[in-house]
Amino acid sequence: HGHDPRRPKGLRFSPVAPNLQDAVVTPTGYDQQVVISWGDPLFKGVPAFDVHRQSADRQRRQFGFNNDFVGLLPLAGSTRLMVVNHEYTSETLMFPGYSAANPTREQVETAWAAHGLSVVAVKEDRRTGALRPVVGHRLNRRFHTTSEFELTGPVAGHPLVRTKADPRGRTALGTLNNCSGGLTPWGTWLTAEENINQYFANAATVTDPVQAKRLARYGIAGTATERKWERFDDRFDIAKEPNEANRFGWIVEIDPYDPTSTPRKRTALGRFKHEAAQPRITDDGHVAVYMGDDERFDYFYKFVSAGTVRKGTSASARRHNADLLDEGTLYVARFTGDSPAIEIDGAGTLPADGRFDGAGEWIKLVSGRRSFVPGMTAEEVLLFTRLAADAVGATKMDRPEDVEPSPRTGAVYIALTNNSNRGATGAAPADEANPRTSNKNGHVIELVEHRADSGATRFAWNILLLCGDPADPKTYFGGYPSRDVSPISCPDNLAFDRYGNLWISTDGNALGSHDGLFGLALEGPERGATRQFLTVPTGAETCGPVIERDRVLVAVQHPGEKDGATATAPASTWPDGPGRVPRPSVVAVWQRNGRSIGM
Ligand code: FEO
Ligand code: CA
Ligand code: CA
Ligand code: CA
Repeated sequence: HGHDPRRPKGLRFSPVAPNLQDAVVTPTGYDQQVVISWGDPLFKGVPAFDVHRQSADRQRRQFGFNNDFVGLLPLAGSTRLMVVNHEYTSETLMFPGYSAANPTREQVETAWAAHGLSVVAVKEDRRTGALRPVVGHRLNRRFHTTSEFELTGPVAGHPLVRTKADPRGRTALGTLNNCSGGLTPWGTWLTAEENINQYFANAATVTDPVQAKRLARYGIAGTATERKWERFDDRFDIAKEPNEANRFGWIVEIDPYDPTSTPRKRTALGRFKHEAAQPRITDDGHVAVYMGDDERFDYFYKFVSAGTVRKGTSASARRHNADLLDEGTLYVARFTGDSPAIEIDGAGTLPADGRFDGAGEWIKLVSGRRSFVPGMTAEEVLLFTRLAADAVGATKMDRPEDVEPSPRTGAVYIALTNNSNRGATGAAPADEANPRTSNKNGHVIELVEHRADSGATRFAWNILLLCGDPADPKTYFGGYPSRDVSPISCPDNLAFDRYGNLWISTDGNALGSHDGLFGLALEGPERGATRQFLTVPTGAETCGPVIERDRVLVAVQHPGEKDGATATAPASTWPDGPGRVPRPSVVAVWQRNGRSIGM
């Protein structure tokens, strides 16, 4: 039963069954509301969304496309500041009659404006969990593909980030493919530039072997891009502007409380397909930032600042902490198993010692301007971090997505979303930290730093979940009996609730159901027992999430994304109903009777 008091606090709801409904499906007794959708105005004087009258000028003042990370920051009273990433655009779903072969300048510039970030004040409803955007609030902002970003840290000004438009190598235009992110203890927002390779054309024309190798390692390849932006701005053409791509793939820090601030690309945190960035204070007062590189066989990283954090969000603390992320040490993780044999691929049994677990170390790549990688300067390590990590023998993981340290215990949870190539011919075989060949459903690792200190250079780890169909003997739910869990597949984003439960949202369910959001306890007899809280509409992925006492927020990303679907023949009619295009949207969910989430 849903409210069973024997269940852990925060998880007392009737789990949602796997389903294929074109809707956000929540537990019995819960209500929901669309907070904001693609195209909704953020500023006064912007007309209501009309897919047939969409323009770049409108889009620059509207909520962007494909919302992913969501953060809620405090403001005065019942007003909060919501920060949201807009990861990418799907032109066929955005523009009725779109021609992929011949996009117009207006369509391309609209897509530039639909990428990026939104800052929007929201007001809490008094009686429900609903949130309403405050159109025209003085802190509302949009950042997109032509907004100014400052490059800071060791790589700023380096010859490899200088371009014709920016010969000093310090001002980049735009942020691209912002996936997940994090919030800092000093009240700023970190956003992660992920699959930036897809925006740059004509890498195939590069003949210099060093440049070619660097481009290839970052997946920047081929001739024309799918979106054809290179036809409208030379900077997206590697043959014409070889360094522009080096200005993307960073962690960006934004001060959403200062409406005049310029966001900063923090080069000290390395360049790769950044999924997320989650800070935690070390025992001696520095800030550690955990980060995954979401690619098959890529790595898990940690940055530790050189300076110490001043506590609180006062003006002086904020000033002190403003540039903490510009100097520090970047590490990459090596996971070592402690079992002689991994048998999961054959018989579906556990390792010889009964647990997927072991030890690990943080391998130093660069500290300040000192490189620890033979043959690479510090700046090269930061620009081409993947090549540096290859050189030091880091552990190749099954696509590290979001990461979240537990606010209670400090244990760090890492979502490994899937890796269908694990164990394939010529690829890395299964190991104890990535124990399934052809890993279709992904897993979650629990990493415990030495003495629970995020500044440690050694850690212990174990696998919390091997996701999939609970009837599959190759799944594992923290030791909980698999007959009484919700099936979960392709973990992506992570969050904690106030009771210390871990919440996981998914992207790419390989079990035939829609994606969704799950909660599970980490301690006590129900450790590992996944319970599904919601599912999302057709074609969508579940992002966000934010778990508050009385409200859950999720970003429903790319509803209606299916092969062959278009704006005129959509695969989903969510959220506006028949005859309308599907719109990525942020959704709030709360319990109708006024009780807290999961209580
Ligand atoms: Fe944008 Fe790794 O998900
Ligand atoms: Ca073991
Ligand atoms: Ca993601
Ligand atoms: Ca994803």
